[in-house]
Amino acid sequence: MTVGGASLLYLSRDDVAGLGLPMSDVLAAVEESFRLKGRGEVGLPAKIGVEAGGGAFAHAMPAFVPAAGALGVKWVGSFPGNPARGLPAVSGLIVLSDPATGLPTAVMDATLVTALRTGASAGVAARWLAREGAAVAAVVGCGVQGRASLRALAEALPGLREVRCRDVHESASSSFVSELSAELPGLEFRVCDSAPEAVVGADVVVTAIPMDGGRPPLDAGLLVAGALAVALDYDAAWTAAAMAECDRLVTDDLSQTQATKAAGAHLAGLPVIDADLGRVVAGLEPGRRDAAQRILCLNLGIATHDVLTARLAYERALAAGAGTRLPL
Ligand SMILES: NC(=O)c1ccc[n+]([C@@H]2O[C@H](COP(=O)([O-])OP(=O)(O)OC[C@H]3O[C@@H](n4cnc5c(N)ncnc54)[C@H](O)[C@@H]3O)[C@@H](O)[C@H]2O)c1
Repeated sequence: MTVGGASLLYLSRDDVAGLGLPMSDVLAAVEESFRLKGRGEVGLPAKIGVEAGGGAFAHAMPAFVPAAGALGVKWVGSFPGNPARGLPAVSGLIVLSDPATGLPTAVMDATLVTALRTGASAGVAARWLAREGAAVAAVVGCGVQGRASLRALAEALPGLREVRCRDVHESASSSFVSELSAELPGLEFRVCDSAPEAVVGADVVVTAIPMDGGRPPLDAGLLVAGALAVALDYDAAWTAAAMAECDRLVTDDLSQTQATKAAGAHLAGLPVIDADLGRVVAGLEPGRRDAAQRILCLNLGIATHDVLTARLAYERALAAGAGTRLPL
C-alpha cells in the first residue's frame, strides 16, 4: 500500500557524484549550519552510536534546520578495516523528510555528502580560526576526508601556497598529490616522511586518520605558535599532551563533544573545551584572540551539516531530473 500516492527520490552514490556539488556551495551551507546552530535555531541532539568492534562504529544523526526547511537523519558507519577490503571507510544513507508532513522525500547515499561536509567543516574552522595570511597547510591522512578538506582549505584560505601531506601508505599520498595538484595548480605539494615533519611549521593542520586505537602520531611540541589544528578523527592523531598544550580548544558542538566523551569509547584525555565553533561563526564568542595562539578545533561532525548538504543535493537532483522515484 502506498502512502497517499506519495513517493521519494532515491539517489545512489553515482547519482550524488553526478550532481557535481561544488565545494564553494557546500562551504557556504556548512558555514550557515554553524551560524544557525550557534544561534540555537536548529534541532540537533548529540549523535548516538554503537561500537562495532576493532575501532568500527555506526552513528544515527538527526537534525532539523527550520530556516532551510531541512529535516533528516544520517545513518553512517566508520569501519577502519574497509579500505583493505576495497570498500570506503565511511559509508551510509541519509533520509530527508518534508518538514510540513514528516513524509520522507529522499533517500541518498551518504558517502560523498559526508566527505564534502566534513571537508567543509575544516574549511570553516580555517576561515574563522586560522591566523591571518595562513600559507602552509598540512594534511595527515590522505584519504577521502583529507582530500575534501584540502579542497575546502583552498576555498577558505586565500593565502594558501604550500601543502604538506603525510600518509602511512605511499600510494595514498602520491594519488593525493596527482589528483589535487591537477585540480589546484596554484599550490606547491610536498610529501612528508612522517606526521611531525608535515606539521612543524604548518599554519593549518588537518588530521583525518583511522580511529583504530593506535598511538596518536602527533605529540606535544609540534604545533608552532599561531597554528590551527583541525582534528576530524576525534583523538586519533594528537596525544592528550599535545591537546593540553593548545591555548584554545574549540569544537563543532560542545554538548555533542561532552556527550561523546561521557560515552567513554573516545576522547578520554580531552582537556576542557573553551569554545563552540557555531557560536564563534554566529559572532557570539571570540575565535582566535591573537596571532600567536595555538588552537585545536575538534570537529566530530554534526548532523545539521549533513541535512543542509543533502538538501543541496536534493534540490540539484530535482532540477536535473536525476535519481529514481520510489513509491513510499
Ligand atoms: N569528523 C567527521 O565529521 C568525520 C566524518 C567522516 C569521517 N571521519 C573520520 O575521518 C577519518 C578518515 O576517514 P576517511 O574516510 O578519510 O578514511 P580513509 O581510509 O579514506 O583515509 C584515511 C587515511 O589515513 C591513512 N593513515 C592511517 N594511519 C595513518 C597515520 N598514522 N598517519 C598518516 N596517515 C595514516 C590511511 O592510509 C588512509 O589513506 C576516520 O577516522 C573517520 O572516522 C570524521
